[in-house]
This record gives sequence, structure tokens and C-alpha cells, in this order.
Amino acid sequence: MKFGTEIVLLSLFAFAALVAAGFGVDEPFRRHMWVLFFAVAGFTAILLRNTEFKPTVPIDPAAYMDGPIRYGAIATVFWGVVGMLVGVVIALQLAYPDLNIQPWFNFGRLRPLHTSGVVFAFGGNALICTSLYVVQRTCRARLFGGDLGWFVFWGYQLFIVMAATGYLLGITESREYAEPEWYVDLWLTIVWVAYLILFLGTILKRKEPHIYVANWFYLSFIVTIAMLHVVNNLSMPA
Ligand code: HEM
Repeated sequence: MKFGTEIVLLSLFAFAALVAAGFGVDEPFRRHMWVLFFAVAGFTAILLRNTEFKPTVPIDPAAYMDGPIRYGAIATVFWGVVGMLVGVVIALQLAYPDLNIQPWFNFGRLRPLHTSGVVFAFGGNALICTSLYVVQRTCRARLFGGDLGWFVFWGYQLFIVMAATGYLLGITESREYAEPEWYVDLWLTIVWVAYLILFLGTILKRKEPHIYVANWFYLSFIVTIAMLHVVNNLSMPA
């Protein structure tokens, strides 16, 4: 069955979020877990509707995997529009302070939504999807790891949704460019390690002896963001 394992894992994930939403001790955490639950449950429902119970058509294993790249291009435009619209809103708020709608849409919450929206959601998606396009062509190899490319794509979108709703609901660590709460940080770490494995795995199985310089740049971007994320989020559990 297509997506069988994914659906089982996602339902467990949604259930865990539901449990956290029901039994969480502090109120903002519980609210945020509701967001996580609806996001994951919605995605599970979409996957269920797209499930095929007949054997899937065998695909040419030599062909490139372009699905996550096409979705990534759409996501880049989408988050670009959202992020820059929020930019327009905060610019207007600077000129007309009455536009601060408390508490969800005040400048303090919308400004990091804009900066992270354009940098991580718009820029991040652009870099991820172009890197997956470039690495396959320059290595003459299909993306490593089967559906790992899809995991990285959707995992990153979930990170964005959790980060963005966290800003609006006021659930953050208040540190610039490292605002998301610890559970969102841990999720990004998992997605980012998967991305590193996806990218390195594709380079390792390349049929082209030369490693094009673009791939070294993408690799340094992946490692730099990983270091930035880990170091900027170091904290003492309290
Ligand atoms: C329609 C387009 C845009 C508008 C109207 C806009 C508007 C704004 C406004 C009003 C601020 C806050 C300034 C302040 O607090 O004094 C800001 C900050 C910022 N914006 Fe944009 N922006 C736009 C596009 C972008 C794009 C495309 C990027 C990056 C890809 C970006 C990255 C940033 C960053 C990093 C900051 C924080 C700057 C700082 O802390 O000094 N913005 N933007």
C-alpha cells in the first residue's frame, strides 16, 4: 500500500500531539499542541485520500526525483507572498500604530513573523528545493533514500507552521532568529539531519566523478545552518 508506513507514523504523531494538548500542564503549550495536532491530522487525512491500495507503478529508478522540488518551488512563492505581506503590515504599523491589534497581531509578534518568514520560510525553501534540483543533475543520480526528499519537504513546512503560529500565539523563547520553543527546535534538528543525509547520500552515490562547486556551497550552507541552529538554541533546561 502506498504511504502505508507514513500514515501509521503520522497518526501516532497526531495522537501524541493530542495527548500533549489534553494533558499539557501550561496553557500556551497546550494551545500550541492543538495547532500541531490539526496540522498533522490534516496532513494524515490528505495522505489517506491519496492512498492507492493497488501495487504502485514501477518507476524508472534512474529518473530524477522532482516532486519535492516542484512542491518546494510553490512553497517558496507561497511563503514569499505571506512573508512580504506581513512586511507590508509591520511597515504600516510603524506609520499607523493604531493598526497594532492586541495581542496576536501586534508589532512585537508580527516583526519576527516577517523576518523568519522571509529568511527561513521563503529563503529556506528556495535553497532546499534548488539544492535538490542541482545535486541530482550535477551528480547524475536520483535523490538518496527513497521518500526522504518528501520527508524533508513536509517536515520543513511543519516546522514553519509551528514556528509561525508560535510567534502569533506568543509562545517563543524571545531570542532573535531562534524564537521557536524547544520542541519546535528539536523537530527542526531532525528535519535538518534528514536533509544532510539526503544531500550527502546523493553526492555519495553520484555517477559523475567530479563534485561540482555548487554542491560544496550547498553543503556549507547546510552545515552552517545546523551550527547556527544548535549554538543559538543552547539553553539550560529549567
Ligand atoms: C514587501 C517587501 C518587504 C517589506 C514591506 C518589508 C518590511 C520590513 C519592515 C517594516 C521591517 C521592520 C523594520 C523595523 O523594525 O524597524 C523589516 C525587517 C526585516 N526584513 Fe523586511 N520587508 C520586506 C521584504 C523582506 C525580504 C524579501 C527580506 C529577506 C529575504 C526581508 C528581511 C528582513 C529582515 C532580516 C528584517 C530585520 C532587519 C533588522 O533587524 O534590522 N524583508 N522588513
